[in-house]
Amino acid sequence: MSRILVPRVEDSVVLVTGASGGIGRAVASAFAAKGARVFGTSRDPGSVRDAPSGVEFLEWDAHEESGADACVTAALKRAGRVDVLVCNAGIGIGGSIEDVPMADAVRQFDANVFGVLRMLRAVLPGMRERRSGLVLVVASAAGRIAVPFQGHYSASKFALEGLVESLRLELRPFGVRAALIEPGDTRTGFTDSRRSLPSSPAYAEAARRAIGVMEKDERAGADPARVGALASRLARKRRLRVRYPIGPAFQLLALGLKRVLPSRAFEAFLAAYYKVPRAGSRP
Ligand SMILES: NC(=O)c1ccc[n+]([C@@H]2O[C@H](COP(=O)([O-])OP(=O)(O)OC[C@H]3O[C@@H](n4cnc5c(N)ncnc54)[C@H](OP(=O)(O)O)[C@@H]3O)[C@@H](O)[C@H]2O)c1
Repeated sequence: MSRILVPRVEDSVVLVTGASGGIGRAVASAFAAKGARVFGTSRDPGSVRDAPSGVEFLEWDAHEESGADACVTAALKRAGRVDVLVCNAGIGIGGSIEDVPMADAVRQFDANVFGVLRMLRAVLPGMRERRSGLVLVVASAAGRIAVPFQGHYSASKFALEGLVESLRLELRPFGVRAALIEPGDTRTGFTDSRRSLPSSPAYAEAARRAIGVMEKDERAGADPARVGALASRLARKRRLRVRYPIGPAFQLLALGLKRVLPSRAFEAFLAAYYKVPRAGSRP
């Protein structure tokens, strides 16, 4: 294995996707506060209100095929390299596996998985060449514990787990580090931005109840600044674990329970938590 070069955070160039609000904004601010040169992305940089100080905004839309190249080229032109890439931008939809229209399901994956892939393909060649770099991918606790009526979102975050596990092995010879950050419920604009799609009568009541539990949890969730602090701490570490869960204590406990409980027992706990009706009950 090659030697792992870790530049000081204050000497690093950092690119954070989806830095206009929520977790991305907190991550960008945390790096900027430590003196890093920080680029943040937004689909509409001109509309970003009260941009965090020290963060330069670049345009990027996860769905655009060549957008990542253009964005990374702009960062390279200004700063010469990207030392840390934080793939944070993401969207959420709500609705049953059966009801959500295919176009919305595809869009969910396009933003959360292929958007990350597009950015990786643009940034990794430079990191490999310099034999130094760090990729942090913001997945989710919902990418370890799938939740009802957010199946497409959960599946997109499970996909990131696989992507990063493979990536770490492929990058090993180049000394480029990669890890997952798995936030639990965090207080951001994500809850209001989630598109809850109409459910058929068979699912409507169960979807309303489960999404209601989720939204309540998210609104009472952790401060996104915690994720920012974690990301900037990880940048200093030479050897990273595969995943870093962060969030409310009961969600960290749930991740532990999933590891130790028989699968049906854990599922029963989740069903009760999300108020999923029992078999045989009427919708
Ligand atoms: N909040 C939570 O409870 C929670 C929990 C676990 C994981 N996460 C994950 O954390 C990440 C950040 O979420 P957040 O809670 O901070 O949500 P947020 O406040 O809604 O922020 C989402 C960010 O993504 C950007 N974005 C949205 N659609 C985009 C697109 N098509 N292309 C490029 N950028 C796009 C937005 O920027 P513009 O609108 O300016 O383009 C915004 O900066 C997401 O990946 C989410 O899945 C959140």
